[in-house]
Amino acid sequence: MRAESGRTKSLWHGTVGDLSRPTLESDARADVCIVGAGIAGMMTAYLLARAGRKVIVLDDGPIGGGETGRTTAHLSDALDDRYTDLERMHGADGARLAASSHRAAIQRIAQVVETESIDCDFAWVDGYLFPSGRDGEERLWEEMEAARRAGVAVEMAEDPPYEPFGGSMCLRFHRQGRVNSLKLLDGLALAVERCGGRIHTGTHVTAVHGGSPVRIETASGATVLASSCVTATNSPITDYVVTHVKQAPYRTFAIAARVPRQSVADALYWEDADPYIYIRVQPGESHDWLIVGGEDYKTGQKDDDAERLDRLAGWTRERFPMVEAVEYRWSGQVLEPADGLAFIGPNPDGAENVFIITGDSGHGMTHGTIGAMLLCDMVSGRENEWSKLYDPKRVRIGAAADLARENLNVAVQFGAWLLPGDVPDETDIPRGSGRVIRHGAHMLAVYRDDAGEVHQHNAACTHMKCIVNWNDLEKSWDCPCHGSRFGPTGDVLNGPAVKPLERPS
Ligand code: FES
Repeated sequence: MRAESGRTKSLWHGTVGDLSRPTLESDARADVCIVGAGIAGMMTAYLLARAGRKVIVLDDGPIGGGETGRTTAHLSDALDDRYTDLERMHGADGARLAASSHRAAIQRIAQVVETESIDCDFAWVDGYLFPSGRDGEERLWEEMEAARRAGVAVEMAEDPPYEPFGGSMCLRFHRQGRVNSLKLLDGLALAVERCGGRIHTGTHVTAVHGGSPVRIETASGATVLASSCVTATNSPITDYVVTHVKQAPYRTFAIAARVPRQSVADALYWEDADPYIYIRVQPGESHDWLIVGGEDYKTGQKDDDAERLDRLAGWTRERFPMVEAVEYRWSGQVLEPADGLAFIGPNPDGAENVFIITGDSGHGMTHGTIGAMLLCDMVSGRENEWSKLYDPKRVRIGAAADLARENLNVAVQFGAWLLPGDVPDETDIPRGSGRVIRHGAHMLAVYRDDAGEVHQHNAACTHMKCIVNWNDLEKSWDCPCHGSRFGPTGDVLNGPAVKPLERPS
């Protein structure tokens, strides 16, 4: 069974019980097989099961063991990529549809929470976007106009309930939301099972063969035959190239600090910077939590995660003197599509009856829910006005510069094959840590465990052979090209790779 996607724990991990389910032991059939038990997969399963479809969900970790357990769960139509840019890349109609789809996703989450009586701390709150930099205020005015053209309820305000970024001018976005993501998944899983759906965790999918039916193979040998398959694995394991060259993986960091009850108003707070800082409050019974995120970097391309978390904690203490203690520190992964919107629809390589949801862009909870709503229509043969906007095959001319920059960055990563490695010898590796070592023409990912035993694997990522790098915070091997991640002993934590790191020959 695969471990969860990282070593650190988020604020949500301690708030729910065991989210594992029995492993798939024997062959099965379903109307729709969903691979991935995060928000995208579980919401898809829920909507389809409620519509009377026979669903099976497979995941190699527990439910929410991937990025949904690590999100800070802002529910928002104030999109990170900004309406000024979305309008430029997707046109006025596209920006309008992007706004309305995110709003519909928040409403759908609220409706499901109410219908299923899920106790997951969902609340409607306002969101505040603060300017950054010299022309920050001017950009804010432009953003307000663009957001309004897209139909977003937003206004300029000078009376935010808190001023974390050193000024009071900001945009106020109405009726945003917040939720405990793992409690929501817990409730969704129970609702899926009440509708007759099956969920199997500890079940690693090794291949998905499109067709009629689709055949889904698992590591144990058990297969699922289904009329349709939805891969909701954060980074799609059924698409080898197309979406991976149009989105880039970033690590992002978050802390949760204990603060006195109601000392910070319950709202969402963002800075209009790149990368930016995002803040929200999670009310509790004896105290509240202040959740602060930011310090993003491109996956596998830095090794200073602990310093980033320290900086985030220091920044928070400076701006929020009521902080009593920083109790949780964790990191997660975000996939940034070059044009700012998720990829949702038929698998771009043409695999018959296979669909994907990917490209969360920092809006995983809403993009995942949009994916569920859209694919629920698609597998049922219904038209949906969002399908063109989110089409995984799309190419937007306005995103060409970002696309070129990210792909140039990927090309540069292959140069690691020519480097000497991190250290000359395995004796230089401290216990509980890993390093890349050159061995002739080969590069080895060498991990020394806490007992001192050395584990060697080929450092070539099993997706497209980039050299992985050691992530000391999460104790993982991270690929700098498309974001695959592997545990210290080579097991897959994040796609697009499906196979573990290989043993050296
Ligand atoms: Fe593509 Fe590693 S994720 S080469």
